[in-house]
Amino acid sequence: MKTFGYFDDKNREYVITNPATPFPWINYLGNEDFFGLISNTAGGYDFYKDAKFRRITRYRYNGVPMDAGGRYFYINDGEAIWSPGWKPCKTPLDSYECRHGMNYTRITGSKNGVEASVLFFVPLKTWAEVQKLTLRNTTDEVKRLKIFSFTEWCLWNAATDMENFQRNWSTGEVEIENGSTIYHKTEYKERRNHYAFYALTNAKANGYDTDRESFIGLYNGFEAPQCVVAGKPSNSVAHGWSPIASHYVEVELKPGESKDFIFVLGYEENEQKQKFAPLSGKTAERDRNTEGTLITSLGELDHTIINKDKAHAVIQRFSTVEAVDADFEELRQMWDGLLSKFTVKSGDERLDRMVNIWNQYQCMITFCFSRSASFFESGVGRGMGFRDSNQDLVGFVHQVPSRARQRIIDIASTQFPDGGCYHQYQPLTKRGNNDIGGGFNDDPCWLIFGTVAYIKETGDFSILDEMVPWDNEPGTEVTLFEHLRISFNHVVENLGPHMLPLIGRADWNDCLNLNCFSWDPNESFQTTENNSEGSKAESLMIAGLFVLTGKQYVELCQEMAKRGHNDGAAAYTKEADRAQGCIDAMVEAVKKHGWDGEWYLRAYDFYGNKIGSKECEEGKIFIESQGFCTMAGIGMEEGMVEKALDSCKKYLDCEHGMVLNNPAFTRYYVEMGEISSYPAGYKENAGIFCHNNPWVIIGETVARRGNDAWEHYTKICPAWIKDQTLHKIEPYVYCQMVAGKDAAKPGEGKNSWLTGTAAWNWLTITQYILGIRPTYDGLEIDPCIPETLKEYTVRRVLRDATFDITVKNPDGRQSGVRSITLDGKTIEHTTIPATPGHHTVEVLM
Ligand code: BGC
Ligand code: NOJ
Repeated sequence: MKTFGYFDDKNREYVITNPATPFPWINYLGNEDFFGLISNTAGGYDFYKDAKFRRITRYRYNGVPMDAGGRYFYINDGEAIWSPGWKPCKTPLDSYECRHGMNYTRITGSKNGVEASVLFFVPLKTWAEVQKLTLRNTTDEVKRLKIFSFTEWCLWNAATDMENFQRNWSTGEVEIENGSTIYHKTEYKERRNHYAFYALTNAKANGYDTDRESFIGLYNGFEAPQCVVAGKPSNSVAHGWSPIASHYVEVELKPGESKDFIFVLGYEENEQKQKFAPLSGKTAERDRNTEGTLITSLGELDHTIINKDKAHAVIQRFSTVEAVDADFEELRQMWDGLLSKFTVKSGDERLDRMVNIWNQYQCMITFCFSRSASFFESGVGRGMGFRDSNQDLVGFVHQVPSRARQRIIDIASTQFPDGGCYHQYQPLTKRGNNDIGGGFNDDPCWLIFGTVAYIKETGDFSILDEMVPWDNEPGTEVTLFEHLRISFNHVVENLGPHMLPLIGRADWNDCLNLNCFSWDPNESFQTTENNSEGSKAESLMIAGLFVLTGKQYVELCQEMAKRGHNDGAAAYTKEADRAQGCIDAMVEAVKKHGWDGEWYLRAYDFYGNKIGSKECEEGKIFIESQGFCTMAGIGMEEGMVEKALDSCKKYLDCEHGMVLNNPAFTRYYVEMGEISSYPAGYKENAGIFCHNNPWVIIGETVARRGNDAWEHYTKICPAWIKDQTLHKIEPYVYCQMVAGKDAAKPGEGKNSWLTGTAAWNWLTITQYILGIRPTYDGLEIDPCIPETLKEYTVRRVLRDATFDITVKNPDGRQSGVRSITLDGKTIEHTTIPATPGHHTVEVLM
């Protein structure tokens, strides 16, 4: 089978060897404020914090050809014009390699005896992408090259940049400094306090271009800019139209010689008083205030020229190869640290590379971006999801707990006093926005889920005392614990006729819109609610989620009582008892009204009719309620859990994973909404929605069926992908959806990178299959593995303790711990305390 690359585990890289991948295979640069998306041919874009409101470079989604535009280098060697990443020139290369690593990408191409290698990364705590271009002459003749860099500025708001041309084509402005630094300052003279720059820091450019048409030519494409073809820049200055940044450098390389060029693409913000440079000749009059900050009285400023002090500092900082290399090393070391909290050696390199490298890396990426910016998410549609981000942080909390803590506070700050939620918020402002709707009745439960994971990882109960506002309204602050209590109650206070949770606009399945009833193609399924008055629509998914997260809430209250948190032992015990009562009632309601004989129902619709029942014409069984109700163990004694799991295997499973529902909907059901708008086998209509497979897998571990859990796990795990052409998208990360068995092309992946699949599979493999699970006191050891796995070791760092755990399974069992020794002493229980220091743990199954 044709492959396009391979894993290099030692370097923690995926190496792409053929640039013509079946789809752009991308990577992410940056992990805090400044970010970039980069494809294997150097396509993509940068932004600061928010892909919608602070887009730095322009990108055209769904262009022809796909993935055109990015950060390009052109080399004119007199014979050919080529790019190290093959695109955009597409001149056949003598060699090509793209290495996607942890927050960096290195693309190397060679042609006519010259090797060009570009390392792209965002240094830690830096608002800039650094590009180190290394040119090497591999021949014994002198090589004379003409090098052109290229990037295209976005006019900041990525949404208006794509639509408001009557304005945009007049506003663009740049500044050029020594030909080597090009500044983008559109709208700077009025309300914006930020600018971007693209600098060549360790050499002097021999020319530049800042106007797209002058550089490329109106009738050319990215593959053959007229300046590159002519071997001559035009030194253009952009006024309106489309500002770009391109450096021109003449390079001579002796035989065997290599030279490095450092390019820095950065972003800076200035305070109002600091925005502008002094009028020429007035430099000396700039002064410092008492805090030592530079100030200048407004009258002496040139209101057209950027105060570039901050950019100068960054350019200066990255003006030597040594400095760049040192920062790159720091980034590598940060990842050494992040990936050292959980490592496994299992004897299966596929499992090890997922757990030790790629699954953790993807969890960082989903934590940073939620569902905002990928090659499937345009960066203008969605911000940070309330539900999504709570799930994402569960896969990330062990890496940087303090960032997860802040995220929980940010999310909770957008909640409403009745527990309801904005479905998403903008990362730049941290304010909720209703663009893709609200009233998703599962949302509040996820806050419990995220917070509990944080406390179990860190032991930090103080987060519960943080004062957190409602809807960011100052003066409304209550404790985070109060937010959790209200979240729990939101379900209890919104029950339907069967005492099951009302679904609201939708639950986890954004496309099961039971109150939407839309016949108008101009309405969004995500925001329309034509028929909610008196709605009886209820969700079994929320019922399961409520029991699962409700139990977590009860355990949390009990734990707080045990610890005498805020002297409230009695009150917390009382709250735990009250909550348990609500959960017991929900369990009863599910058993009574939510069981269909072989599986759990999915929902009741507006009219009170069953959804996901053998009585239905299509969509007889859905995965979400099977996942949540089995994870919650509802009806375990009655055999419901096992039966439901068997039904998943029988009706939902196929060679690529489990589909969301079966049979797929073949016609439109107005009472169900968007779900039946999708063709059969895609997305929420019977696609393999990878996000929910792990729910069933965890369900399998609840039923102690290690073989089944493992089989389901490997079916959707990227490291097991066989046919890269069929799968189409990146083989190193999870995607949201793989086309299901009813699709035209089963097995074809879509929507890679930004999906709750990453966090949920992390949870599944580490906590439920390998069975190393943080608790309030330490680690619980509870493996549920395939009988073929006879031994594995895990190093887990929890708080100030490091555990080296060896699990032995000589008899080929699937679950059950026979004995545990901790530092040589047998212990009677399966939880090991997080006592600071290093510990050796031996587990016999
Ligand atoms: C998609 C969902 C998505 C929703 C909100 C729907 O079209 O199918 O997966 O969550 O839009 O953007
Ligand atoms: C993608 C969304 O990000 C997620 O929140 C949702 O649960 C799934 N789609 C399923 O609809």
